[in-house]
Amino acid sequence: MLVLGIETSCDETAAAVVADGERILSNVVASQVLTHEKYGGVVPEIASREHLKKIDLVVDEALLQAGVTLSGIDSFAVTEGPGLIGSLLVGVVYGKGLALSLGKPLVGVNHLEGHIHAVLLENKRQREADPAVEEATLPAVSLVVSGGHTSLFLVSALQDNGRARFKYAPLGKTRDDAAGEAFDKVAKLLALGYPGGPVIDWLAPFGNARAVDFGRIKMRGNPLDFSFSGIKTAVLYRVRGTTLAEEAETRRTWRKTVTARITADDIRLRCSAATLDLVASFQNAVVNDLVERTIAAADANAVSTILVTGGVACNSLLRTRFAEAARARAMSAFFPSLDLSTDNAAMIAAAGYHKLVAGERANTALTAHATLPLGQ
Ligand code: KG4
Ligand code: ZN
Repeated sequence: MLVLGIETSCDETAAAVVADGERILSNVVASQVLTHEKYGGVVPEIASREHLKKIDLVVDEALLQAGVTLSGIDSFAVTEGPGLIGSLLVGVVYGKGLALSLGKPLVGVNHLEGHIHAVLLENKRQREADPAVEEATLPAVSLVVSGGHTSLFLVSALQDNGRARFKYAPLGKTRDDAAGEAFDKVAKLLALGYPGGPVIDWLAPFGNARAVDFGRIKMRGNPLDFSFSGIKTAVLYRVRGTTLAEEAETRRTWRKTVTARITADDIRLRCSAATLDLVASFQNAVVNDLVERTIAAADANAVSTILVTGGVACNSLLRTRFAEAARARAMSAFFPSLDLSTDNAAMIAAAGYHKLVAGERANTALTAHATLPLGQ
């Protein structure tokens, strides 16, 4: 079954064709990052306009790369939420229009469910290439960690006539900022660029991660919840009124004068050792917290499979620490490739496929939801 997936929940316009929920025939992503960069964050109104401009081209490109025409597509899957309402609406309306006009089935997919399927999709892709690769078996604990979300789920699959019905039980989530949001805000404060995650990931190895002790993040109530606003504020207090703030201001001014593309090395050369130490210590504290709570969730639910996904899953230190922590506990941690970690439509097509084979169909009432809980 060929599923065309569409994803427009934030600032990436994406379309992909996936065969039988596991073979990626095309995966096209048009990023708006350069458009939003000058504002230091996603501007919702601009994001929806950009989706409108690009969706046709992106879908055409996905079909072209997959070597199929629209009539060869069996079903459509579109992200219905959570996300920016104006952005989501573009994809939902476009997907509905295609499915209705062609008389083909359509399903709405939760963006977080998509991210979880990105790991399973990657695992199938790797095992196809090399059967010796370990299988990501369920039940598993999944950490979905991105610019908009930091959530833990217990993921299981019930076999129903040879078809997998996936179940998601929420275990914890952030009470304030998402981890990616904290990376982006710290990078903005220090004038390191946007998005903050990749640049901090790149700069951190040049600093001393033990230089600043942020302490452990304490949570009252559910120990599997997250909170990153405290550490973000702690960084702010260490910068405000100090030479670090002056240094950031110098970088901000320099950025405005540069017309060529700024590389991570250009930024590093304009960072003092104290700034690099702060960045490294911040990343270390966030990564440790993410790993510790996820391992605790796996322990509490007696599972040995961990699925880490979302934009922050690109982080090199996070990948290393999860691999170490999992090995030490005879658990296995799985990640998507970098292109499947950030927002994409292949994950939406894959998640949609399983819903479609389970008989799920959206009707004309399908609409966009800014908030859409998964598994509640
Ligand atoms: O999943 P995603 O593309 O969009 C959302 O659904 O939010 O994630 C984007 C987020 C941004 O906050 C970005 O800074 C973060 O992922 N990110 C990273 C890295 N690459 C992207 N954070 C830490 N380290 C990275 N290497
Ligand atoms: Zn996402």
